[in-house]
Amino acid sequence: MSKKMLSMILVAAVCVTVGHILAQPGGSENPNPDSQTPPPRPERSMDQESRRNRPPRGENAAALKPPLPQNETEKKILAVLEEMNRSESRGMMNVSPTDGRLLRLLTESLGAQQVVEIGTSNGYSAIWFSLALRTTGGKLITHEIDAGRAALARKNFQRAGVDGLITLVEGNAHETVSQLEGPIDILFLDADKEGYSDYLKKLLPKVRPGGLILAHNTNMAKPMKEYLDAVTTDPALETLFLFQEGAGIGVTLKKRE
Ligand SMILES: C[S@@+](CC[C@H](N)C(=O)[O-])C[C@H]1O[C@@H](n2cnc3c(N)ncnc32)[C@H](O)[C@@H]1O
Repeated sequence: MSKKMLSMILVAAVCVTVGHILAQPGGSENPNPDSQTPPPRPERSMDQESRRNRPPRGENAAALKPPLPQNETEKKILAVLEEMNRSESRGMMNVSPTDGRLLRLLTESLGAQQVVEIGTSNGYSAIWFSLALRTTGGKLITHEIDAGRAALARKNFQRAGVDGLITLVEGNAHETVSQLEGPIDILFLDADKEGYSDYLKKLLPKVRPGGLILAHNTNMAKPMKEYLDAVTTDPALETLFLFQEGAGIGVTLKKRE
């Protein structure tokens, strides 16, 4: 092969690679590639949001098997979650089953005693938390502004048999969280995205050192900018973003002294 042909092939290969990188969501938008903050994406509708709550694809999907119940109680709770996901998820803006499994895993491994959730909807993510809380001996306090969704959540907690583990606080969480007492082991933010930084300001002092702040929908970088800046610029916090190919979950550790 002549030198000229070889250099033409090399140039073409570089162009294809650069084009591919720029075509990735956010690939051309991150002004600071060293930043931990995920690059901003265009705002999406709620319909688009639920489509993004898909299970992982590619290698991840091949390795992922459904959760396996180890006893009848788990079996019952998982069956309710499966049924909610199949027939009740429309308009509920629930986390994906994979996200739910992560919530359970973190809660159980931390031995969480107090989990606080902002944004209950019909109780889907809360039931994932309760799968862990029934073994850690902990409790969940979840906040919901919409009375209809709150009523649905209460019914779901009962049929999953986890209502004893959960307190549902109805009202505007920006106000109702002031009643919360620490220490909080896990704070899960999944309500109004613009409000995440306010929830963080109000509740971070009540999260225990070594506790976690989880934020759903970190792909919605624009409305969450203030929050994303706050959790990536404070030396007292360590933040990673998981499942960014889906809705995205920010996992923030409140460091121990
Ligand atoms: C994304 S959904 C929560 C989904 C839920 N975490 C799940 O995965 O099953 C957001 C919920 O937050 C509620 N919400 C929005 N603003 C709120 C506020 N200021 N206070 C309390 N709840 C709020 C909405 O009504 C909605 O039900």
